[in-house]
Amino acid sequence: MKRMNIGLLGIGTVGGGVFELLKSNITEIQRKTATDMKIIAVADKDIARAKEIVGSSIEVTNDPFKLVADKEIDVIVELIGGTTIAKDLIIKAIENKKHVVTANKALLANFGNELFELAKKNNVTLAFEASVAGGIPILKSIREGLAGNKIEWVAGIINGTTNFILTEMREKGITFAEALSEAQSLGFAESDPTFDIEGIDAAHKLTILAGLSFGIPMSFKDVYVEGITTLEQKDIQYADELGYRIKLLGIAKKRDKGIELRVHPTLIPEKRLIANVNGVMNAVVVKGNMIGPTLYYGAGAGALPTASSVVADLIDISRSSHVPPHGFEDNKIDKIPIYKIDDAISGYYLRIRVSDKPGVLAEITKLFGDKKISIDAMLQKEPKEYESEADIVILSHLAVEKDINVVIHSIESLPATIGNVIKIRLEELSK
Ligand code: HSE
Repeated sequence: MKRMNIGLLGIGTVGGGVFELLKSNITEIQRKTATDMKIIAVADKDIARAKEIVGSSIEVTNDPFKLVADKEIDVIVELIGGTTIAKDLIIKAIENKKHVVTANKALLANFGNELFELAKKNNVTLAFEASVAGGIPILKSIREGLAGNKIEWVAGIINGTTNFILTEMREKGITFAEALSEAQSLGFAESDPTFDIEGIDAAHKLTILAGLSFGIPMSFKDVYVEGITTLEQKDIQYADELGYRIKLLGIAKKRDKGIELRVHPTLIPEKRLIANVNGVMNAVVVKGNMIGPTLYYGAGAGALPTASSVVADLIDISRSSHVPPHGFEDNKIDKIPIYKIDDAISGYYLRIRVSDKPGVLAEITKLFGDKKISIDAMLQKEPKEYESEADIVILSHLAVEKDINVVIHSIESLPATIGNVIKIRLEELSK
């Protein structure tokens, strides 16, 4: 039996999961790989806790640089996260000819291009299945299972924290702030939840999904990002009444002259399976030009699900699988232009607060007609007896973002309009 010596950088939630998984499933993994995978050293800031987890037979240090230089170690598993020390460690590990497995989406979204190049130059693998959607083998599915297709679009719920918050808001009728504090008290959201709720974590993952789907460099800075912090209960309810759910989606879509990359709250028809993915679960729809839409669902975070992806990468390395990181030949990674959000095309949900007077609706719908944007559905509630204002909700057909923005600006300039128009994008996800 071959031997694979592993150095583990960081034994927090996921690191602990990797340790546990290898301990529980090693016999099965050996049947599959004829390889004896062993964590032989662990680096962590909290040495006492690390020792408690791994026992006394495994070396524990607080110096991760010792591990990336250790000649006994074949593979480094990086679970420290972030883009500073983790980057230095991965570079050192690669330069020392070690394969690297990482779950670090921020690092790959920002520095993946140079790291893949370095790995290729040093003839080692940089594997990252755990970086997107935790336990769901979505990268392998795109790279290998769907390899015969041209990918047309990808749309995913790729942040569990925000999906939990949105689910709670819908099911309990609570505000964003209330749902966030619930997520925090259950330990789903970090005490600083910015990356989750502002959509940045999802944008990191979307960057990676798009890289593999279209064979483009990692282009994080080109992703349009909007989080869920300003989403109101009212819009969740109106969407519901119209037959839609609001989800934070990462969307990557190929069009004639480029690619759309965007993360934002999105209305999805409730009859789509992905619209019914609730709580912390993740799901990704990938549309291939031959297979049509495919759906991948599962746990997007957590110790053992994420460990499942880390160990799948270790198994690939033991098998010397030579699938390039993007699933495209390295010299065929093309810089396809990324559309600015102004040029994106989607449907729109608009909520407009108006004085309840004759002719207002006609004025508003005329503005859509002027821009040749078709209205798909509309909702107006009878104002309560004491109210002189009403909400009008309009769902538009597909339109270019800058055109809908002109319509919105004109609506906001009408004397009857009160405050700003609320805009949420809408995707049918059908074809
Ligand atoms: N913070 C992420 C989420 C989990 O909420 O989905 C790790 O990617």
